[in-house]
Amino acid sequence: MTRPQNPIMIVLGTRPEIIKLSPVVREFEDRDWPYTLVHTGQHYSDSLDGVFFDQLAISEPDHHLGVGSRPHGHQTGEMMIRLEPLVHSVDPSFLLVQGDTNSALAGSLVAAKADVPQGHVEAGLRSDDRRMPEEVNRVLIDHAAEVLFPPTDEARARLAREDLDQRCFVTGNTIVDAVRQNELVAAEKSAMLDELGLTPGEYVLFTAHREENVDAADRFADILTGVAEFAERTGLECIYPVHPRAREQLVSKNLTVPDPVTLVDPLDYLDFLALESDAAIVFTDSGGVQEETCILQVPCVTVRENTERPESVEVGANVVAGTSPGGIVAAGRAQLEATPEWPCPFGDGNAAERIVDAIAEYLLEGPRREESPQERTV
Ligand code: UD1
Ligand code: UDP
Repeated sequence: MTRPQNPIMIVLGTRPEIIKLSPVVREFEDRDWPYTLVHTGQHYSDSLDGVFFDQLAISEPDHHLGVGSRPHGHQTGEMMIRLEPLVHSVDPSFLLVQGDTNSALAGSLVAAKADVPQGHVEAGLRSDDRRMPEEVNRVLIDHAAEVLFPPTDEARARLAREDLDQRCFVTGNTIVDAVRQNELVAAEKSAMLDELGLTPGEYVLFTAHREENVDAADRFADILTGVAEFAERTGLECIYPVHPRAREQLVSKNLTVPDPVTLVDPLDYLDFLALESDAAIVFTDSGGVQEETCILQVPCVTVRENTERPESVEVGANVVAGTSPGGIVAAGRAQLEATPEWPCPFGDGNAAERIVDAIAEYLLEGPRREESPQERTV
């Protein structure tokens, strides 16, 4: 297919979206397709935002909506208000969102209202936990989007249960592309292990930032206790790069961080990948980190009650531990025994290519919609 006439609009706003959409942006660049990058401003601290544009070598956003931190409805609404006129003036041929953030939801809803065809990267993930803002977002986006890019057959099957699988392309997850594109550079360039005085295979990497975990003082304290107890019992050091949401909660709730846990600022992608690759084990509530550990053959314990990444559990890379200290320690001990020889269920690192191929097919052939009742002849 030749290049689309009007640009593809990519709407993003947070750390994981920048990382997971970087291979897609690179694919548009390689094909010399016109695209325009819109940043909602949901993440704005350099350590969650600017550093990733620099390091992943993607160009600065063409448009910045500057929305910043606000309560969920206000944040999503403000993004829509600022995005809608831009969509009308750019008149994109297609709009692309990724994942389950408020930024992705705002992009999706504006596209639906403006009748711009849209695609959802990482479609079909479900935790079945509607208390999570992300679960509500991903369900709504999947139902609004014309074209869905589930990363796995399992995600496609979830879409089929909601009658959404007629317009699906199973692509793999673009996080595999991102890891493959950056892991060697990380191993060569990152000096983070030395800087932190860590020995490969002799430390725990820990991340926690989910609203339902860190905004609840008791639960956050339980998680910290469990991870610290595991580190103490196994004699491993523990590094926690702290997301600003979690940092704020630690301070405002006056939580004590137990001794074996060392807090550091959020890391850039290469430093984080380097730390992840050489960790003995990772404890996390992050979606992307569950996937990356599985790709990097590092055992993972998820400090949540559920996961929308069951594939990582099925291959033995990940265990869902809950948030009680005892459960976390037990799951950590079991995972430490795991032999990291599982297959990668998230694809082969060519997801971005498949996504852009599918957009090309869609733009060429138009929507594969069922006949509407009005079109049916009687
Ligand atoms: C958001 C996503 C979450 C994703 C995470 C990735 C939603 C509903 N949540 O959560 O799914 O896993 O991003 O990291 O979209 N803050 C800063 N600097 C920033 C951004 C935020 O200090 O650049 C602080 C602010 O105090 C803010 C808090 O972090 O109130 C939460 O930020 P927000 O973007 O609302 O949610 P995240 O927890 O980052
Ligand atoms: N990450 C990073 N630095 C850090 C912590 C995480 O670069 O200090 C990366 C990590 O490699 C993964 C992504 O951020 O690709 C995950 O983002 P996050 O945990 O914020 O969000 P989620 O995936 O849970 O939506």
